[in-house]
This record gives sequence, C-alpha cells and structure tokens, in this order.
Amino acid sequence: MSRFDQQQNTTPETLLAVKVVEGDANNGVARTAWAAGMEGSVARTLLDRDARAFFHQSLSTPCLDAIIKAAGPFIINAAGRRILDFHGNSVHQVGHGHPEVIEAIERTVRALPFSPRRFTNEPAVRLAERLIELAPGELAGNARVLLVPSGAVAVGLAVRLARAVTGRHKTISFAGSFHGATLEAAWIGGQDLFTRGMGPLPPGALHVEPPCSQPCNLCDGLCTGRCADRVEALLAAGDVAAVVAEPVRATTVHVPPPAYWSRVREACTRHGTLLIFDEIPTGLGRSGRMWACEHFGVTPDILVIGKGLGGGIVPIAGIVGRAELNDAGVIRLANLSLGHFTHEKSPAGAAAALATLEILTRDALPARAAMLGSSWAQDLREALFDLADAASVASGLMVRGVRNLGLMVAVELGGPRARDIADRCLYEMLARGLSCKVGGGVNLVFFPPLNIERTQLERATSIIIESLMMTQRA
Ligand SMILES: Cc1ncc(COP(=O)(O)O)c(C=O)c1O
Repeated sequence: MSRFDQQQNTTPETLLAVKVVEGDANNGVARTAWAAGMEGSVARTLLDRDARAFFHQSLSTPCLDAIIKAAGPFIINAAGRRILDFHGNSVHQVGHGHPEVIEAIERTVRALPFSPRRFTNEPAVRLAERLIELAPGELAGNARVLLVPSGAVAVGLAVRLARAVTGRHKTISFAGSFHGATLEAAWIGGQDLFTRGMGPLPPGALHVEPPCSQPCNLCDGLCTGRCADRVEALLAAGDVAAVVAEPVRATTVHVPPPAYWSRVREACTRHGTLLIFDEIPTGLGRSGRMWACEHFGVTPDILVIGKGLGGGIVPIAGIVGRAELNDAGVIRLANLSLGHFTHEKSPAGAAAALATLEILTRDALPARAAMLGSSWAQDLREALFDLADAASVASGLMVRGVRNLGLMVAVELGGPRARDIADRCLYEMLARGLSCKVGGGVNLVFFPPLNIERTQLERATSIIIESLMMTQRA
C-alpha cells in the first residue's frame, strides 16, 4: 500500500477497525511525559487545584494546561504563550471573544439580565425568527424553535418531540456516535465511555453501522449509497420515532456518500419516522455551507444546533423543527412541556446568537470556510506527501489521507504506529503552539475559526509537519 493515500476517504474496513473515540486519550505515555513537563510551570498549582476540586473526567482531567485569555484564533496560557486554537470545542466560528458579540451581550444584560419563564423578550423572539429564516431547505420559513442551554439537552428535546409527535419511542443512531453526555443523549450515542456503569438505559435505542466512505465494496464502482439500506432494514418494522445522526461525523470528518442521506430521508418519510440532524458541531458555516445537510440536498424534520450559536461565549443550543410537528402533535403538546428550562429564553444567549448569525452572514463566513478549507486541505496533502516521501520506511509514518468539508479538516494516519504517532503528535503540536484534537484514535482533527487568516493556516501547516517529523523519529 502506498505510504500516502490521497483519497478523500478511507475504506469501510478502516472505519470498522477504528473504534471511534470522542477525544484524545489522556492516559498514554505521551500524556504522562507532557504532565511531567508541566512541573515547575506557571500553571502547575492551578492544575493541581483543578484536579482536587473537580470530579475526574475521563477525557479532560488532569487538564493539559491553564489558560488566561482567549482572543480570535488564539488561547493564551498561564505562561503568556499564544496557541492557535484549532480545537475550540467547535464553538469559535467567529473566533474567541468577537467584539461585536461581546458588545451585544453587554448591551443586552445591562437592560435585561434575565427573563423569567412565562415572560417573553425581544432578543429571544428575534433569534427564533432569524433561525427560522436561516433554516435549511423546506424548514426555511416553515419551522418552530425551542432554545436550551446545552447541545445534549437539545438532542434529548428533539427526541422527546419526535416521541410525542409519532407516538413511538424507538430511535436509530450510529454505533460509536456521540450526541452529548446527559443520560438521554448518551443513550442515543453509541459510545460506552458515556454509559458504562449507568445500569439499564431507556429501551429502544437501536444502533446501526455508520455510512461507508467511498470507495466501498457494497456498491460496484459507482456509489449509490447502498449502505443506507442498513437504516431502512431497521425502519421496516414501522415503530421507530426518529433517526438521529450527524450528517457528517465531526469527530473524524467522515463524509457519507452523496446519495446516502437522500436514501435515508426517503425511507424515513415512507415509514413515518422523523429525521433529526445533530448539527451541533457541523452547523453555522463550519462545513462551508450554513448547514452541513445542505451539501446533501436533504432537509431534516428537526435540526439540532448548539456550540458556536452563543458566539463561543454564552451556552445556548436549540432545535428548529418543521412547523407541522407543532400542529400534528398539538393535542399531546398542549399537555406537555418539552422545553421547560430555566434559561429557555436567555436574553444574553439570544443576543450573542443574533450577533453571531449577523457576523456569519454579513462576512460570508460559510463561503470563506469552503474556500479556505479546500485550499488548506490541498496544501496539507502536498506537504504531507513530501513528508511521507522523505520519512524512512522504518519510522512507520503513513498518512492515509486528508479529508475536509469546509473548515473541518482531518489528517488520518495509518499503519501499526498510527495511534501512537497521533497521540504523541498532539503534544508536539501543543508545544509548538497549535491545539487540535485526536478523533477516532488515528485522526488529527482541525477546526479553526472561520475567519482565520491564511498566514495562520500556513503557520499551522508548518507546525503539523514539524511535529509529525519529530514524532515519527521517536
Ligand atoms: C455531535 C454532538 N452532539 C451533541 C454534543 C453535545 O453538546 P454539549 O456539549 O453542548 O452538550 C456534542 C458536543 O461535543 C457533539 O459533538
């Protein structure tokens, strides 16, 4: 096999072999060495206090470092070092601390710091109206909204709405998926990291193999998205309330075949099942379109949004669902309070979201993400091709490919040392001033702000190459 595979996608065999893990492992050799390197650092005391004060979290404690500032594409650590934040938990489409978002929040909270439930307010209503205008496909102008404080809660809300409207309780989602860490969302997701030791989960959460990447061996040559038949086979029982999925898997940037979602959409409609797209990390321009589902020409019944909605400052998420669901379920909904949350109409959250949507649309950031994403992915391919050529066979560095959709970019490593190299590389990059995530164990995954400068992407390319060179020698 070539040591550099320029295909945009990997084979389904690779996907199956790779156990999708949400984030970076924090218990490996490289992590231990990184932690030892923090001895004597400015952050040490705070890291120790953090570890004593918070419950341990598998993917995030002990923490990597302490930060004191976040601005634009940078986070600044306690030692004053600027780190390009290409992780940012996918909240920083407009960069950290965008002045217009801050100004909108400040102005709003001075007048209206809180809106008690049972009252409404201008920013919240305006936000719902704006989301309805900007919604994808047939949802545009024909939707209703509920707002909540976190993505996981929004996923649970979408599923409860689907249950209420269909009168069914089952869901289909992808094995190894992630939809948040509440009991409800963890049960929809398929990763045991979030459900281990939790006892019996609510019944009816069915999991199906994720879509193939191309080329795959299900379709002969020309892909027709036959892997969607796996979903249809489960739908056939006729008792499924909703299919819940990310249109594009953000953690590994795996893009389904072009026909996949239209086949699933058609099957859902035929079986009376709702299609819920979780666009929490992929929405709001990240994919090069306002919504990732627009790349497939498919509209969900319910769109779930979050993360960058609050401009990376205020926690706010929500659902945008077909208006008919409100009318269809009106009798049941009249006696249900699905979106009953203390901060369900947060003026500060709504102001932050409205300012963010204004920046995204005015500055055409989705189109910018499409343009910069393709050119940066191509630059990375070329640079990595040269690197793989120069690396000795014995080093075991193999790059399977660079995938991107807008400014979601993944470099997938291959070969027996892939996991080890990806894990070590993360720390090499951090030490050189670039933060990213390892997704699925073998992918270096980069989510820069959509208003990133070209020169900053070039700097990131140099750091990635230098870090891989250092890592493969180790
Ligand atoms: C696809 C997906 N769904 C849901 C969530 C949960 O969002 P939150 O952390 O805001 O609850 C996440 C968070 O990473 C996510 O990536």
